[in-house]
Amino acid sequence: MNEYFKPSTLGEKVDDLEKTLQEARERIAALHVVQEVSQSLTSELHLKPLLGKILASAVQVMSASAGSLLLLDELTDELVFTILEGGGGESLLGTRMAKDKGIAGWVVTHRQPIIVDDVHQDNRYYQAIANTISFHISSLICVPMVTRNKLIGVLELMHSETGRYFNKFDQQLLTTFASQSAIAIENARLHENLIAERDHLIVVEDEIRKRLARDLHDGPTQLLASIIMSLSFTKQLIKRAPDMVLGEIDQTVEVAERALKQLRTLLFDLRPVILETQGLIPALEIYAQRINEVEDFKIILVIENQFERLSPKAEVSIFAVIQEAINNAKKHARASEIRLIFQIDQATDTMAVTTKDDGVGFDVHAVQKRYEERGSLGMINSQERADAINGTFMISSEAGKGTQVKLSFPYTENLLKHQKDK
Ligand SMILES: Nc1ncnc2c1ncn2[C@@H]1O[C@H](COP(=O)(O)OP(=O)(O)O)[C@@H](O)[C@H]1O
Ligand SMILES: [Mg+2]
Repeated sequence: MNEYFKPSTLGEKVDDLEKTLQEARERIAALHVVQEVSQSLTSELHLKPLLGKILASAVQVMSASAGSLLLLDELTDELVFTILEGGGGESLLGTRMAKDKGIAGWVVTHRQPIIVDDVHQDNRYYQAIANTISFHISSLICVPMVTRNKLIGVLELMHSETGRYFNKFDQQLLTTFASQSAIAIENARLHENLIAERDHLIVVEDEIRKRLARDLHDGPTQLLASIIMSLSFTKQLIKRAPDMVLGEIDQTVEVAERALKQLRTLLFDLRPVILETQGLIPALEIYAQRINEVEDFKIILVIENQFERLSPKAEVSIFAVIQEAINNAKKHARASEIRLIFQIDQATDTMAVTTKDDGVGFDVHAVQKRYEERGSLGMINSQERADAINGTFMISSEAGKGTQVKLSFPYTENLLKHQKDK
């Protein structure tokens, strides 16, 4: 029947209007709360408390009996029950389910909110999960959390009393709230990543400093001490055996030259200026030459295919991976020869840089297994350098058969001219 022709008394109309007005007031109040909560979310930068706040606020604003916040784990394509509120569903905490399972899965797949008035009549309702909680759920609402077109999870609220339902207005409100929450979650994640990166940098820097201190101590410092001793000795020789002085001075000069070389290698290690000015191969040639002068193994450069100048990021990354591989060979391998091999596979547009030593080798699997506890960063750093240029990093070794460290990466996209074109 048409609204216009509905028979009604004036009294009924006034009642209707009052009801509508009351509803409108409640909605405005709810909107205010959502706005306030959304604003307060942006200042929370720690993920766990933020998630707790989001769910608690949603449950409160909707006067729901219980709620859960599920985050999408992109690595495994699963939804994870990350926060639960009310309903004694704590046993679900951390539970994972395939991202297309249940009502939450439907919301993820369709990227749409949903209201279910009677969950027990809905065949999407995921019994496997429902069976693990004793809480009675009658109706529910579930909305996706999307930011920058990326779905990061869902918010789900439940009523336990029969006869209580969520309506379209709840859905609008919760959808707005969920998208504000998604932004806050992304912010908090970025913030936590930044902190983790900073902590990692501190550790790496510390490692470099320690290595520098050790190298300075074992190398030039010892040599300088020996030079001082020789000079004092020479002073005595001048009085007692002047004919031996020249020989002693010659020896001292030799030691001083060695100290100078070591210092230059160390400086080069720290900041190979030539890498920036002339590029990777000239830098490696000088690096190899310096090492060949002071170490008892040889470095041989093998350039199988000519290649163009790479981007600064690629050059620095490759240099760092080679440096780490050579340092490892120096420290652990007792090698007599290290080959640096540069190859380009035209078919796949892949460049490979292999550092190959003929030393004692090691059990890669065993070392990787207890890597966490060893507190060393060599391999992790190299892996990160590889990631930075969209490449891969691989070590293969066997006791008695030497070690091969291979860095492969897309060639064209890491060329200097490619970067300039962009
Ligand atoms: N070229 C190599 N020859 C022999 N053993 C190696 C070589 N490179 C690495 N290793 C082994 O792998 C371990 C891990 O290397 P790395 O992560 O660089 O840590 P660190 O050099 O600080 O010990 C080394 O301790 C060593 O036992
Ligand atoms: Mg190392």
